[in-house]
Amino acid sequence: PAPVFDTPVPVDDLDALHAAVRGCRACPLWQPATQAVPGEGPLDSRIVFVGEQPGDEEDLRGRPFTGPAGRLFDQALLEAGLDRASAYVTNAVKHFKFEPRGKRRLHKRANAAEQKACSGWLHRELELVRPERVVCLGATAATALLGSGFPLLRERGRWHRNSDGMPVLATVHPSWVLRQPAADYESAYRSLVEDLKRVVVALR
Ligand code: URA
Repeated sequence: PAPVFDTPVPVDDLDALHAAVRGCRACPLWQPATQAVPGEGPLDSRIVFVGEQPGDEEDLRGRPFTGPAGRLFDQALLEAGLDRASAYVTNAVKHFKFEPRGKRRLHKRANAAEQKACSGWLHRELELVRPERVVCLGATAATALLGSGFPLLRERGRWHRNSDGMPVLATVHPSWVLRQPAADYESAYRSLVEDLKRVVVALR
């Protein structure tokens, strides 16, 4: 069975934490992956964005949100008036989980044990950065911070408090926007930008 972090991860600066993430063997996902992808961004970030897990390109580059979903995310941030360079961007799960399909690697959602095995890293990132606000991108991040029953589509775009009292807003995942049929794409994208604008208002 996968070991689970039930005590705080004992590292006290971001570089040490990122190094520890890269060496993580707490669940089997490290093995087929190229590398772990820790979060990145300034220690004094006022906001933390939490995605699901690295995708194919992030797995190769070792940096979060640098593939197609990342490009959409960057564009949405820009339109909302947010600066990615001054935010901390991370994922709920630090290794890419995939199914080989010919030459491609198809994204697979991490299961509950894998998500739980990884949760100590996210909590330690939040303890170190101590942001004013956290934004969950998609259901996996929302589950990690707001609980498994969180009704994302009903409660997206509103501020909630997690068990530590941290204000957390959940919105849709940029990959979900990319998967929308052409007729729905624009409104899906707009809704993501609108949710991100609430972050701008909250940080004023
Ligand atoms: N999707 C995510 O959730 N995170 C990434 O880093 C890339 C794609």
